[in-house]
Amino acid sequence: MAAAHSGDSPRHAGTAAAVPAAAGAAEPGAAPARSAVFVARRLTKTYRMGDVEVLALREVDLEIREGEFVVLLGPSGSGKSTLLNILGGLDVPTSGEAFWRDHDLARAGEQELTRYRRDHVGFVFQFYNLIPSLTVRENVALVTDIAPHPMPVDEAIDLVGLAPRGNHFPSQLSGGEQQRVAIARAIAKRPDVLLCDEPTGALDYGTGKVVLEVIARINAEFGTTAVVITHNAAIAGMADRILHLADGRVTRVETNARRLTPAELSW
Ligand SMILES: Nc1ncnc2c1ncn2[C@@H]1O[C@H](COP(=O)(O)OP(=O)(O)OP(=O)(O)O)[C@@H](O)[C@H]1O
Ligand SMILES: [Mg+2]
Repeated sequence: MAAAHSGDSPRHAGTAAAVPAAAGAAEPGAAPARSAVFVARRLTKTYRMGDVEVLALREVDLEIREGEFVVLLGPSGSGKSTLLNILGGLDVPTSGEAFWRDHDLARAGEQELTRYRRDHVGFVFQFYNLIPSLTVRENVALVTDIAPHPMPVDEAIDLVGLAPRGNHFPSQLSGGEQQRVAIARAIAKRPDVLLCDEPTGALDYGTGKVVLEVIARINAEFGTTAVVITHNAAIAGMADRILHLADGRVTRVETNARRLTPAELSW
């Protein structure tokens, strides 16, 4: 048998070697082969607080494909932010694997993770994190000054519909406008992936929809893979796929046959 010739070399069971194969493998019912941008296997994160151990992620397996719009949905404490932070190189798992393309995020050093975040990841958080003493344009320029292939600052601001506000300070903008500046800052580096942790969590209904429109537009126009955390099940209608998290596990994966536009969502 062939196995007798190849022997039982443990290298064939090697984890890194498994990634390209996994990248081509489509789940039943999924859209045909787009390559995997993220692959996680048995991803586990434990936080230790004194004597107490919190299992934030328990052996999570997932693939997120090129250009996909994925929503992470689940109750508070289910591990959504922990997962997003590991995919974004802000945190490292306790065990298991997390690949961005062929980069092993679980074993990367601090310098490599910093480079990964700087060159490839756009983050958007619930509370904008703009620098109050800098104008809109200056906030975005902070990123374009260090990114390898940025878009012009004004183009990024225009993409989120804030061209007339370039010289305003954050305090002179509404919450929704500030979030759009945060998105402009995230996309100005032309990131491969846009990771959003409750981007509409602090916004009212109408403003939240405008922000979702912007994220959907970036995903559609630039093919930027988007992973969006929300508590709001209605937002899941926008996604290609919804990963449901509960108690540190992905409990269910849903695929939308048709993605809704943010205008079609209601909650
Ligand atoms: N730095 C930390 N130290 C200790 N425990 C943590 C830390 N970060 C998260 N946890 C714990 O890990 C679990 C998952 O947290 P996580 O922030 O990922 O949840 P979440 O799904 O994003 O929740 P929320 O919807 O409230 O933001 C929670 O029990 C949380 O208390
Ligand atoms: Mg969270």
